[in-house]
Amino acid sequence: MKVTAASADSIPSGTPIWGVPVASGDDGPRHAVPPGQFDLGLADRPDPAWCKRHGFSGKVGQTLVLRSPVPAPPRQTGDTDGPSAAVAVPPPGIVLVGVGESSAFCADRGLESLRRASAAFVRAVGGGESAILLLAAVSDLAVGRSAEAAAVGAALADYRYDDYRSGDRPERLESLILGVGAPSDVSAVGDGATRGVRIAESVALARDLVNEPPSSLTPLKLADTFVRTLAGRAGLTVEVWDEDRIAEERLGGLLGVSRGSAQPPRLVRVEYQPPDAVVIDGRVPHLALVGKGITFDSGGLSLKTAGGMETMKTDMGGAAAVLGALDAAAALGARIRITAFAPLTENMPGGSATKPGDVLTARNGKTIEVLNTDAEGRLVLADGLSLAAEAEPDAVVDLATLTSAAVVALGKEIAGLLGTGDHIVEEVRAAAARAGEPVWPLPLPDDYRDHIESEIADMRNVGRAGQAGSISAALLLAEFVGDVPWAHLDIAGPARSDENTRYLTKGGTGFGVRTLVELVTSDEFARTLVQTNVP
Ligand code: BES
Ligand code: MN
Ligand code: ZN
Repeated sequence: MKVTAASADSIPSGTPIWGVPVASGDDGPRHAVPPGQFDLGLADRPDPAWCKRHGFSGKVGQTLVLRSPVPAPPRQTGDTDGPSAAVAVPPPGIVLVGVGESSAFCADRGLESLRRASAAFVRAVGGGESAILLLAAVSDLAVGRSAEAAAVGAALADYRYDDYRSGDRPERLESLILGVGAPSDVSAVGDGATRGVRIAESVALARDLVNEPPSSLTPLKLADTFVRTLAGRAGLTVEVWDEDRIAEERLGGLLGVSRGSAQPPRLVRVEYQPPDAVVIDGRVPHLALVGKGITFDSGGLSLKTAGGMETMKTDMGGAAAVLGALDAAAALGARIRITAFAPLTENMPGGSATKPGDVLTARNGKTIEVLNTDAEGRLVLADGLSLAAEAEPDAVVDLATLTSAAVVALGKEIAGLLGTGDHIVEEVRAAAARAGEPVWPLPLPDDYRDHIESEIADMRNVGRAGQAGSISAALLLAEFVGDVPWAHLDIAGPARSDENTRYLTKGGTGFGVRTLVELVTSDEFARTLVQTNVP
């Protein structure tokens, strides 16, 4: 979907559908944009009784067709193009689009309202060549941020995965125009819209990868997708380690998990050296990213149930988010250095599979007793995080569909946030809030370290049954990051959606891409990285 900006005087005539933002309030719905700026013949406020009759209060996500678009009259045979054949442009359709209470239309919450409102508008419009959404700007923020949010919501609501469907594809909206009151805002709104569409493209890449069937998206294919997406672009280098190199580099966790699979594992390492780096206190801030890339999680010998396996192609959602973030970071010209690692493998119960009771030695030399082969994410992340720590970044962020306990604690829509550096955890929390990706902190108490005590090795890969499963998993990860400040996002819930709702589509969500993009393109974050890590 294309998203552009136009002011009242430059809106193409004949655009068939206009979305008009409406705020809710105690005294009924009110226009969120002065309707007089546009020549639509609208009253000062929507008729409260009529809105009420149709159940429209202006709440976020609601839409109400005020006037259906009138189809252009069919041309008579013999009509010619040109002024003589011009017929009066039919009056456009008007859809009221709820944006919620105006008092809440500010800052992060306001941006999220806008994403949801523009998604609702796109869904209400369905298909067609073009539609206009009048842009209600979120207070306290530059207008470009509002445009970006509206574009993200629209483009993501338009996402479909239909690679495996035969037959006709449903119609889509080709172009969305953001209508702007002040002509002086058009260029900022246009830039924000372009940025939003570009971010949505990277989110869609991550969604596509999660949605792809697991026997199609093997570790090899996912590694190849990193290469094809990133290699050769300005600032980016991609290295792929095959199984021999993985063994040479002593990635015992990744090797141990891959042993039960007919598909060979891969380790992807991406380096982003910003072409236009920001230099703070004489150096370039450096962030490391790690993404869990289990292309299918059967559980291994500790086999999952049939139901438990249904969605386990999603288990590479962390790696997909890292790839999406790198794709967007390079496209948007992020100014910090990034080193990313994605350990990629299947977790299968083949004859050579790691057995409960086996001990693996991870990259940093620490040993892990595997008591449950279904707790495989932490095993491959042990190697990924060790490599990240060796790169001596200012901070590490990892994303992983790690524990069903995170879904129990926080549900399907909220990621768990844990870590060992207060500032990096806080920066991730704030970035996620700006991006509209809900995360919530969980503690990482030293006192729970004995949940992963092993009888024979440095640690075991499961905690205590039924107790703090997301925390014990993160405590194991903490053993591999050394003293580098670290934040961990457990995205087991939000990596996929069970519903077509808001700007989500059933299946992969691309969760994490937008948070990481916020993070790596934030000047304030760049400063925090350097200043909290003075040698
Ligand atoms: N990939 C799963 C976690 C998961 C579960 C993600 C459901 C999304 C939805 C992970 O590898 C796993 O199986 N974890 C186990 C760990 C347990 C055996 C200690 C879990 O959480 O049940
Ligand atoms: Mn598992
Ligand atoms: Zn898993």
